[in-house]
Order: sequence, then C-alpha cells, then structure tokens
Amino acid sequence: METKLLTAKEVNEAGKILKNGGLVGIPTETVYGLAANALDGTAVAKIFAAKGRPQDNPLIVHISRLSQLDDLVAFVPSVVYDLADVFWPGPLTIIMEKSGIIPDEVSAGLPTVAIRMPSHPLARKIIDAAGVPLAAPSANTSGKPSPTTADHVMHDMNGKIDAVLDGGPCGVGVESTVITLCTRKPRILRPGRVTPEELEEVLGEVEIDDAVLGKLKDGETAASPGMKYKHYSPNAEVFVIDADTESFRRYVNDAATKNGVSKTAALVFDGEDDGFVCKTLSFGEKDDDCAHAHKLFAALRECDDFGFSSVYVHCPSYDGVGLAVMNRLLRAAEFKVIKL
Ligand code: TXA
Ligand code: MG
Repeated sequence: METKLLTAKEVNEAGKILKNGGLVGIPTETVYGLAANALDGTAVAKIFAAKGRPQDNPLIVHISRLSQLDDLVAFVPSVVYDLADVFWPGPLTIIMEKSGIIPDEVSAGLPTVAIRMPSHPLARKIIDAAGVPLAAPSANTSGKPSPTTADHVMHDMNGKIDAVLDGGPCGVGVESTVITLCTRKPRILRPGRVTPEELEEVLGEVEIDDAVLGKLKDGETAASPGMKYKHYSPNAEVFVIDADTESFRRYVNDAATKNGVSKTAALVFDGEDDGFVCKTLSFGEKDDDCAHAHKLFAALRECDDFGFSSVYVHCPSYDGVGLAVMNRLLRAAEFKVIKL
C-alpha cells in the first residue's frame, strides 16, 4: 500500500479515508496518533495489525466536542464536566464505563473506554471531517518510542497505512495523562503533561497507580494494559544515570571507551555537554521538565538513526511533568537506573 503524506490543507482527504474505514497518522499536541473510525471494529482491527500491538491493549477514543461523549459511555460522572472545563481540549484521557456502541476491538474486552479531546486544532478538524470519534494509539510500531513528527510516523508506518497528515512537530512530546474514574478514588494510570497536582485541584485526592514508576510483579494484572509491555525502547540499550554532572561525565566516558566511542551517546542537559568523548544529544535545560518531555522520544529515535548501541541519559527530576518523563524513560531503560 502506498502511504500518502498529506498537508494541513488536506484535512478533508484525511476525513474521507477515515470515513471509508482507512488508517491515517494524525498530529495531536502530545504525540502522533494512528487513527481509525472508533465505531468500526474492522477498521480498528487494522490499527493492531499495522502496529503489531497486543490484542489486549485498549485504545483511546478521540472526540472534538463534548456532545459526542454521551453516546460513548454508559453515563457521564458529573466530575467529568469539571475536568473537561479545565483540561479539555488538552492532554487528559478519562476512563469511564463504556456504552454498547464501543466495539470490543477498542476496549480490548474491558467494560470501560478511554476518552480524550485533543487540543491540536488539526486533530479536531480531522475528527470533524471524519464525522465520527477516532480511536488512536500512538502511531509507532508497538514497543518503539512514540512519534513526535510526521517523519517518525512514516519511518514506522510507511506502506502499512493509508496516509499521514503532517501537522509539524508535537508540542508536548509525551502521551496524555490517563486517569480512571472507575476506581474507588480517581487514579492516574499514566502520567503526562497534566500533572497529579493539577488534577488534585479539581478532584481533591487522586491516587497514582503503582505501575507508574514501578515494575509489575510476575502475575500481577495491569490496570492499564499498556503498562505491562516493554515500551518506548529504541534499538540502543538505554541507561539512566542518577548523578551530578562530573560523575555522570566520568561514567559515560569510561563506558564509551570500553564499548566504542562511535557506538555510544549521552543525553545531557544544556550547558554540560563539554568533555564527553562520545556524541551528546540535548535534553534541554536541567530544570525544564516540559523540554525533557518534548525532547525524549525524538532523542531516542535519533539514537537509532545514528546506529548507537548504548545511550546514557542524565536522570531528570521526577517533579511535575518529570513524572511522565521518568515513567517513559524507566520503561525505555527496562528500569536500569545507575545511582552514583
Ligand atoms: O496522547 C495520547 O494519549 C496519544 C495520542 C495519540 O492521543 N495516544 C496514546 O495511545 O498514547 P496509546 O494507545 O499509545 O496509549 C493508551 C494507553 C495505554 O496504556 C492503554 O493501555 C491505556 O491507555 N488504556 C486505553 N483504554 C483503557 C481502558 N479502558 N482502561 C485502562 N487503560 C486503558
Ligand atoms: Mg503508545
């Protein structure tokens, strides 16, 4: 199949493909999504095939206006309107009890459905042009870093999907915050640009699922099935180094000398890139959690473009959006954190 690269002016073409049961890579403010008509189980099944996604990992349904919500869920908890007031459109996904029109392919057999209203204007225009809500996981091959440019989507999906609409680089860079309202207390299953502190201002107390920063134990069930898979991993082996600049540099230089300088990279904060024997990539300012989020996936993909076999990442803070960055980074590194 030829994968068309569409421009921002070709929203209607994207809508037509989606209406006819096809797959389109679409820009959102978080990462690119791989979209299909959420009400068409056959179309949605093609997403799983294109990504190589495990069948038991449910998808997020994207809407462009609040009036679309009623049909998709069994009932709308009143707190959803409070959340929508503050965070929609934007990078927050809310899990609710699903209605009968959600195909099993979307919810992967669960009684719930995840819904979000993206803030990227093109994402909402594409939903409007399709005339239906869109199911869309991140548009990467399953297990790889999520795509934050149309190029990344083409790299993974060329020949497997009908089109990619190029809306430029994504602003946020990590996927939406996922919160479930189907537990006794609202619980964050995946951190994102909307932080626990911001959610607590609307909801009061929120819980953070153990799987956010921890590894699932053998036999444990994931509240969010996406949490149990090896994830966000480039071909290069990722190590997180929790250390001051000096010790970080010494550790990386020793490792690079041992393993091959040309095979090694370091993801470093601005201003600390001097004195490395290997290639350095920018992780932004040390205290800028949004910059770390914006740069992480693109940097991991760049490591594969250069053919590095190891990448050493200077451990950022866990605060604010840092929780989302660490959630992705720990999985990319298969929880290899070296504290010096
Ligand atoms: O920012 C985002 O959320 C992006 C853009 C494209 O919107 N989408 C995205 O989708 O990240 P995906 O499929 O890569 O991640 C969805 C996550 C997975 O961890 C999945 O297991 C979880 O949400 N999820 C979806 N439906 C769920 C449900 N009903 N119950 C629990 N977890 C659910
Ligand atoms: Mg994903």
